[in-house]
Amino acid sequence: MDTNALTIVKLLLLWILVDASLLSGLSANDSFVAEPTPAWPRRPCNESRLQWEVEVCGEVFKKDMDHIHPQYWCNLTYFIGEYHLFTLCTEAKSRLFHCYWPNPLVESYIIRIHKHFFSNCTNRQVVFVDPPDNTLTILILIPVFLTLAMIALVVWCSKRSDILA
Ligand SMILES: *[C@@H]1O[C@H](CO)[C@@H](O)[C@H](O)[C@H]1NC(C)=O
Ligand SMILES: *[C@@H]1O[C@H](CO)[C@@H](O)[C@H](O)[C@H]1NC(C)=O
Ligand SMILES: *[C@@H]1O[C@H](CO)[C@@H](O)[C@H](O)[C@H]1NC(C)=O
Ligand SMILES: *[C@@H]1O[C@H](CO)[C@@H](O)[C@H](O)[C@H]1NC(C)=O
Repeated sequence: MDTNALTIVKLLLLWILVDASLLSGLSANDSFVAEPTPAWPRRPCNESRLQWEVEVCGEVFKKDMDHIHPQYWCNLTYFIGEYHLFTLCTEAKSRLFHCYWPNPLVESYIIRIHKHFFSNCTNRQVVFVDPPDNTLTILILIPVFLTLAMIALVVWCSKRSDILA
């Protein structure tokens, strides 16, 4: 478990470094900084489409969880990677369909997923109450990474729309 968790932490750190270098590649004269960017998302959120796409994310996550024995469903170590991908998927789809993330639609879907897989975990107070240090590190790193990823995504989108414009 320790080696697994360490690998995940290393991967996350690598992503963060990649994101950071992406951001530092922006010079002060970059058009992204120099020109006012239009309000974003620009178009209204397509909720019906997002609902569908988020369920596709969920189906992928469910398939991934099928490969993990239910005995381990309460142990974050076993599915942190899959869960992370699921979160990223909902985030990417939200952006794609001009919705903010997180949003009520995504949140209620995530709650449904939690009820399905983790409803028995809180009773036994296994994972979410007192995680080991490694798990805690991962839990702390995820929002850090997501924040950076979101910034990078916004930068990338605005750069791309500059090119297209
Ligand atoms: C999760 O699984 C790992 C590896 O089997 C184990 O070392 C760890 O103690 C488990 N954590 C919990 C909270 O059960
Ligand atoms: C930004 O532009 C100014 C003048 O427009 C120039 O003097 C400066 O060297 C530029 N800085 C970078 C980092 O390109
Ligand atoms: C939302 O997405 C659906 C499915 O792609 C499409 O049929 C519909 O026209 C979209 N609605 C808006 C308001 O863009
Ligand atoms: C939770 O426990 C109940 C009763 O023991 C069982 O029927 C159900 O399948 C369990 N759910 C999960 C997600 O493990």
